[in-house]
Amino acid sequence: MSDHTNPRLLPLLRPVGHGGRTPMTCLYRCGNACDHPVPNQSDNAYFGDLMAAGGDVEPSATAGVSRRGVVRAGALGALVLGFGGAVAGGAPALAATGETRTSGGTPPGALKGRPGSGALTFKPIPPNTLDSLVVPNGYDHAVVIRWGEPVLPDGPELDVHHQTGARQSKQFGYNNDFLAVLPLDKRGRSALLWSNHEYTNEELMFPGFTNHDALTVDQVRAAMAAHGGSVVELERVGDSGQWTVVRNGRRPYNRRITALATTFELTGPAAGSDLLKTAADPRGRTVIGMLNNCAGGVTPWGTILSGEENFNQYFVGGDAAPEALKPTLARYGVSTTARYPSGSRKWDRADERFDLALHPNEAHRFGWIVEVDPYDPESTPRKHTAMGRFKHEGANVIVARDGRVAAYMGDDERFDYLYKFVSDKKMMKGDSRAARRHNLSLLESGTLYVAKLEFTSAGEIDGSGKLPSDGAFNGTGRWIKLVSGNRSYVPGMTAADVLTFARVAGDKVGATKMDRPEDVQPNPVNGKIYAALTNNSNRGVGSNAAADEANPRRANRHGQIFEITEDRGDHTAETFSWSLPIVCGDPADPATYFAGYDKSKVSPISCPDNVAFDRAGNLWIATDGNALGSNDGLFATAIEGPERGHLKQFLTVPVGAETCGPFITEDERSVFVAVQHPGEIDRASIDNPASTWPDGDFAKPSVVCTWRLDGGHIGS
Ligand code: FEO
Ligand code: CA
Ligand code: CA
Repeated sequence: MSDHTNPRLLPLLRPVGHGGRTPMTCLYRCGNACDHPVPNQSDNAYFGDLMAAGGDVEPSATAGVSRRGVVRAGALGALVLGFGGAVAGGAPALAATGETRTSGGTPPGALKGRPGSGALTFKPIPPNTLDSLVVPNGYDHAVVIRWGEPVLPDGPELDVHHQTGARQSKQFGYNNDFLAVLPLDKRGRSALLWSNHEYTNEELMFPGFTNHDALTVDQVRAAMAAHGGSVVELERVGDSGQWTVVRNGRRPYNRRITALATTFELTGPAAGSDLLKTAADPRGRTVIGMLNNCAGGVTPWGTILSGEENFNQYFVGGDAAPEALKPTLARYGVSTTARYPSGSRKWDRADERFDLALHPNEAHRFGWIVEVDPYDPESTPRKHTAMGRFKHEGANVIVARDGRVAAYMGDDERFDYLYKFVSDKKMMKGDSRAARRHNLSLLESGTLYVAKLEFTSAGEIDGSGKLPSDGAFNGTGRWIKLVSGNRSYVPGMTAADVLTFARVAGDKVGATKMDRPEDVQPNPVNGKIYAALTNNSNRGVGSNAAADEANPRRANRHGQIFEITEDRGDHTAETFSWSLPIVCGDPADPATYFAGYDKSKVSPISCPDNVAFDRAGNLWIATDGNALGSNDGLFATAIEGPERGHLKQFLTVPVGAETCGPFITEDERSVFVAVQHPGEIDRASIDNPASTWPDGDFAKPSVVCTWRLDGGHIGS
């Protein structure tokens, strides 16, 4: 792609952006969020205030989870397996195609006990900066699908010189993020891949790119179509753990969902409210497109949840938005001082609804959890307002003991909050159409909570990361009710207000400011919940909130893992205990913690982002923005027993990339990862690439499958 008549400006190898990200990632991923004021300017109480106010900081008597409660939750999970598998078999769309499928995916509650010990015996790989994907000895990997490959049967091949909205709408989108692999048959030979497409990097997509004004409108539309999600049919290679894309035949499930043209339905209490009405949608019930979909989850009824994250960066004209809306726009990181914030993609050139001067409510229609039924290609994806609007990393559902479902969610911004949603209705068992219809409504009504923490060692937290004298960063917490059904629990805010401006509601009730809560996921084996807190360059800096026991390091560069144990093991509980099993970084750094495990034996890790679990309940962690100088990667550790904290690195991704998605298939013979933004290094372009992975020409975000050469279980 290079123009060899011009001197080649070499991409910078490892320029330092914010945290471990490159400046280019900062620009395109989140619109240089770190250059802007922290959106949370609220003066929520943190521990120092609680002490001053005489707050109760004693550990709860329920700090240790009831073993029996966990076992019971696990038993319900096992029950759901048969249910989930059967549910998918009854989907209306498939009846119409005459095809069969027998499994509804790998819901968190569906994982059965693992044969063998579950011990993680792979030999860890070392940190590295190679422009390749590295896996342990005894494993292999291959690209499953890359940006621009046809998804729809009549889709064209990638031609970077002639990309248009129409072409890209039939091709695999850019920057694959959350992944799920859902079974299509009983024999384990056929599956559906879901991938989010979070954002675009026009410099790495369009040859000759100079600036966004110079793109043609059809190139802008191509970028809009490169956002969203894809459903792609896969088939197993022989009897191995390798999967490939089905390239011939009807492929009736294959689907592109885009920011350009896909219609979404709004559900829940805020749907139809004045805040969501626009000129194009005077009823406030349908939206075109989803934006910046980052992580997600698979529900126990076999659908995909996908989180709209940094949606703020797509809007322009916030400076001319109505004054009354400016405070809430700003709380969500939308610029209210400039028509075009730095790095703006200027989508108003292609569609004026992205101009808040003309359509100020349009921004309220993004920032939701989206539910997609990958087994029904005709279904309309839904944005669930009952789950609140913020910069959703993702959402992960578990079935509570009483049959209701709980979804755990993080708001990925420095000093923002952890949330939980509990459905009003119970999940219906069985595989009837009635059960499926019922379960598809579970996320439309319920109770939204935000987390507020208390601490056991607050007086000892000095921002250094030193472990408190009681041997743990730990405490208790409460899920504070924000809204239940149509009833608001936040003074001065209606239910629609609370849901649309959940951040503001969290501010008002004094939620605890966290270090960028990303993936939050229940462990189906021990019933505890694990949140990746990526980093927070501003923790304890200037007038920002000081370090606390859950966020114990000043200017936190490497992040931590936050473990929640619901009281009585009940996922509908309003109280919990918590601890930090891992405080990330170089294990030689005294300000790190690996659950007390011998630090000379653990892999360095920085900036945890996504988590996953295998059938033994081992915790797998993917990173974004390694600030230790290595490429990003995927790690695994036991989370119970003597091996708790024995973290080992399983793979690394190529130069400039982030490890997204991680998905362990139900048979544990394959691990999928999304290699996002390879080559995203400052001054790189498609003409002058910093990475040539995976094909040797220019970088292409791609989904990778990893398997064991001997066909055995991943990790062991
Ligand atoms: Fe898209 Fe929170 O990372
Ligand atoms: Ca403590
Ligand atoms: Ca992420």
